[in-house]
Amino acid sequence: LADFEPQRPAVHFAPPMGWMNDPNGLVFFEGEYHLFYQFHPFSTVWGPMHWGHAVSRDLCHWQHLPIALAPNEEGACFSGSAVVDEHDVTGLFDGQPGLLAFYTCHRVLSDEPEDYQQSQCLAYSRDKGCTWQRYERNPILPPPSVKDFRDPKVVWHGPSQRWVMALACGQEIHFYTSHNLLEWQFASAFGEGEGAHTQHPWECPDLFELPVDGAGPDEPATRWVLVVGIGATPDNPFGSFTQYFIGEFDGQRFTNDNASDAVLMMDEGRDFYAVQSWSNTPGRQLALAWLNNWQYANHAPETGWRGTMSLPRELTLRATYCGVRLHQRFAREAAQALSALSHISPRSLQTAGEHCIALPEGAAVYGQLTLVLKAGTRLALSLQQGYQQRLWLTADESTTSLHYERQGSNGQAAFDEHFACDHAAGSVDGLTVTVRWWCDHGTLEMLIEGATEQRCITQVSFVDHRRQPVTLEVVSGRVDVAEGVTQSVAE
Ligand code: FRU
Repeated sequence: LADFEPQRPAVHFAPPMGWMNDPNGLVFFEGEYHLFYQFHPFSTVWGPMHWGHAVSRDLCHWQHLPIALAPNEEGACFSGSAVVDEHDVTGLFDGQPGLLAFYTCHRVLSDEPEDYQQSQCLAYSRDKGCTWQRYERNPILPPPSVKDFRDPKVVWHGPSQRWVMALACGQEIHFYTSHNLLEWQFASAFGEGEGAHTQHPWECPDLFELPVDGAGPDEPATRWVLVVGIGATPDNPFGSFTQYFIGEFDGQRFTNDNASDAVLMMDEGRDFYAVQSWSNTPGRQLALAWLNNWQYANHAPETGWRGTMSLPRELTLRATYCGVRLHQRFAREAAQALSALSHISPRSLQTAGEHCIALPEGAAVYGQLTLVLKAGTRLALSLQQGYQQRLWLTADESTTSLHYERQGSNGQAAFDEHFACDHAAGSVDGLTVTVRWWCDHGTLEMLIEGATEQRCITQVSFVDHRRQPVTLEVVSGRVDVAEGVTQSVAE
C-alpha cells in the first residue's frame, strides 16, 4: 500500500482503510505475531467497533487479514486481549492448543450513546487466528452496576497457577482470577487515590512481571508493572496518556511501591495510548501503542485511513537514580528495514545559531545522537521535522531537563486547538544524553537516555518532513556531538 499512498508510514502499522484505535489481542502463536485492533472499516471516524487483524513473522512486515470480530445484536467489540490456551483448559480445542480472545461487548441501550452497558466476552479460534467463533455462554462477566467496565487483559500468574484478568472498572483496575479461562472470580481492586485520575474512567490495563536490571543485592529481583490509560476530558489539557505503577502482584492484589500521588508516565509525548504487550513471548516483553490522542483523533487530517501504531518496543525494568522504572527500546526487528549505518562525525557546537546534520534519503529514518552538554547549555533539537517539532534540552549542574514543542505543522495544526503544544517532558540524570529516534512520515518516536534515567516522547505531525536535516540550535553554552549514526528505509 505504501507504493500507492505516499502518506503511509513505511514501517509503522496502519489500517488498510477506515478508522483504527487501540491495539488488541496481541499474541505470539506458532511463529506469528498477531495484531488485532479497534477498527471501523466503513469510516475514518470512530464508530461500531470491529477487531481488525494483521500478522507478522518479524514485527516489521505486516499482512492484513480479514476482520476477526464484528459487532452483532449484542453489541460492538471493544478492546481486549488474547492468550494461547496451550493445554486446552477451556475444552474448546479438542485437546490441541488454540487461541482465545477476551473482548468487551459494548451495548448501547437507547438512542442516547451514553446509555450503555459493558460486559466481558470470549471468542476462540481453532485455525491459528484465521476465523473466530463467539463462546456459546457469553458473557463470561456480566455487566456490573458500574457503567465503564472494559478492556480485559488476561495474563498467566505462575506462582498461584491461575489466569488473571485485569479490567478497567470506573476509575479502578479490578483483578479477576480463573483456573479454566471461562469462570472468573473477583479478587481485588486497585486505584482509589493512586496515581493520576481525571473525570474519565481508567482504560486499557496491562500487567506483567519483569526482572530489574541493576537491582542491588538487598533489592527484589523482579517487580510487577501495571499500565493504565487515562482518557481525554476537559479537565485534562494533556488529553489521553499512559501511566504505569511499579509494585508487587501476589496473584490476587497489586501493591504500589511508590507514593500514592506519584505519577509515572510511560511516554511524555501526546500520542502514545492504549499500550498493550504481547502475550506468549517468553523472555521478552514487547508492546505497542496507538499513536494518537483522543483529544483530536477523530478530526486529525486523513487520507482514507486514520491511526498508526507505534513501533513494537521492548520493555525492561531498570534501577535508576530515582527508583525502579520502565525502560523502552525499539524492538530489534525494526532494524531489518534499515540501510547500512552512516556515521555523524563528532563536532563541538558553541556559537549561537543553527547547525545542520544531513540525513540519508529514504521513506523513514532512524537516528542516534550522543550529546555531551556543558552545565548551563540550552539547545533545541529538530529531528527531521523542520521547526514544526522541537526538543529543548537544558542542562544544569547534574540533570538535563526536556521540553517539547509542536508548532503549526505547516498550517495543519488548525484542525484542533490542542494540537499545537508546548510542554515539559521531565528530565534525565547527567549531562550526557543519547537520543534515539524513528521518524516515519507523520510519526516521531524518541527515546532519550541519561546516565540511568530515560524519557520517551512520541508525537505525530502531519507534515511530509523527508529530506530535512536534523538541526541543532545552541542558544547558550556548549554541546559536543560525541557520536551519532543514521540509517534509512529505502523509498
Ligand atoms: C481506549 C478505548 C477503550 C475501549 C476502546 C473503544 O482508547 O476507549 O477503553 O475499549 O477505546 O474503541
